[in-house]
Amino acid sequence: MATKKKKKILMVGGEAMPFAATGGLGDVLGSLPAAVQAEMKNADVRLVMPLYSAMKDEYRKMLQLECVFEVDLAWRKQYCGVLSLEKDGVIYYFIDNEYYFKRPDMYGNFDDGERYAYFCKAVMQMMPRLGFYPDILHAHDWQSALTMVYLKTEYREVPEYKNMRGIYTIHNIAYQGKYDMGILWDIFGIDYKYASIMSYDGCINLMKGAIVCADRVTTVSPTYSKEIKYPEHSEGLHYILRENNYKLSGILNGIDYDYYNPETDKAIKATFTADDLSGKAKCKKALQKECGLPEKKNVPLIAIITRLAGHKGLDLVERIMESVVANNDVQLVILGKGEERYENYFKYLDAKYPEKVKALITYDRDLSKRIYAGADIFVMPSKSEPCGLAQMIASRYGTVPVTRETGGLYDSIKGYYELDGEIYGNGFTFANYSEAELKDRIEAALGLYGDGDKWTRLTKKIMNIDFSWNISAKKYIEMYENLC
Ligand code: GLC
Repeated sequence: MATKKKKKILMVGGEAMPFAATGGLGDVLGSLPAAVQAEMKNADVRLVMPLYSAMKDEYRKMLQLECVFEVDLAWRKQYCGVLSLEKDGVIYYFIDNEYYFKRPDMYGNFDDGERYAYFCKAVMQMMPRLGFYPDILHAHDWQSALTMVYLKTEYREVPEYKNMRGIYTIHNIAYQGKYDMGILWDIFGIDYKYASIMSYDGCINLMKGAIVCADRVTTVSPTYSKEIKYPEHSEGLHYILRENNYKLSGILNGIDYDYYNPETDKAIKATFTADDLSGKAKCKKALQKECGLPEKKNVPLIAIITRLAGHKGLDLVERIMESVVANNDVQLVILGKGEERYENYFKYLDAKYPEKVKALITYDRDLSKRIYAGADIFVMPSKSEPCGLAQMIASRYGTVPVTRETGGLYDSIKGYYELDGEIYGNGFTFANYSEAELKDRIEAALGLYGDGDKWTRLTKKIMNIDFSWNISAKKYIEMYENLC
């Protein structure tokens, strides 16, 4: 009997947990490959990302050198080392070039366009050296968008690449990679005969190029895949997404159920489960202590954990939170950094209500877990949210989300109601981008908190919802199989 050839899948992205990550993309790329590998028996799943200064030593030590060569990027020849390690059945490749990646910040450098053009070229050019030509090349966000473009331009007729299929996943349409048209060849190494693929609104747009070139385009939730066809959410790309609608779909992210597990988590004060919530009460007490807040068991503790960026809905928070804090017996803990305006606002609340508010202006994963575990209510009123992972993590740790009905928040959190003694939904949600609606839903959550029994039932219920990769990994696999 002939054995079926293994399907080779190569994911490409700018970051992945636990090696180096700054946000949700890193969470997803740190868990999706292993979830696919575990579920898709006849697959060989690998991932490639840059080797940053931020790479943790414990992993750096495990790296093995695969090959060294020179990458051709326009007129440049640049060193490239490919290193690898294996984790959870997945091979991770790291592109090493200290000139481009030995920097304090992963993103936000003046030459990001060139850095990621180099990275994408290196990915294409490493394949013959590794003897690994994937059946599916799955790129994520703007940093790896050019792999889709190179695949369908320069490599289009190259035999080994010809049948490779490209999938492009948009994690956040706000970051597209826009550059002056004049540098198409010089920086990106793309011939001007392909200018029409890359140009959008008078400039080079890497994300647009990937949307045009990929065989399938996905986003990280079904609702977001619909929203981005309209100007409110598209950041200008709705025309191109409508044209490519036939290949566009949305698959909801999952979270890493081993890393985020209140039953085993070493980062939290006490572990707990839906059946035994006593550990959660200990986590709350410890959090209050850590934040210098009165250790009161029955005062609801509201948490906000987010990048302090405009589209996270913080302008709504800014308009109502002082009144929520002043007029209710509540506590509020904020974790995040970002725009100065919001940092200052939360510092102001902290200074004015030291017995009620703690503003932690930083980014710290273990601290975030202590907050997810210790809080009662999690507020996430995003203006736009491709998927959002925080509402899922909060649920897993028994912290009831208050969310706006947009993107992945809409797909994962449904509004609470009661009927004939039954409770429905798994959070408090509102539709319009309005501070009045946000305030109303926070107060509804506070009200239900006062009814201890129903609150406990809701807490147990949300902890038992499956936000793991179980369902979504299967959807990716189905797409891979259909494409091959
Ligand atoms: C981006 C999005 C977020 C999503 C994450 C992972 O960070 O803003 O909504 O959950 O990517 O896909």
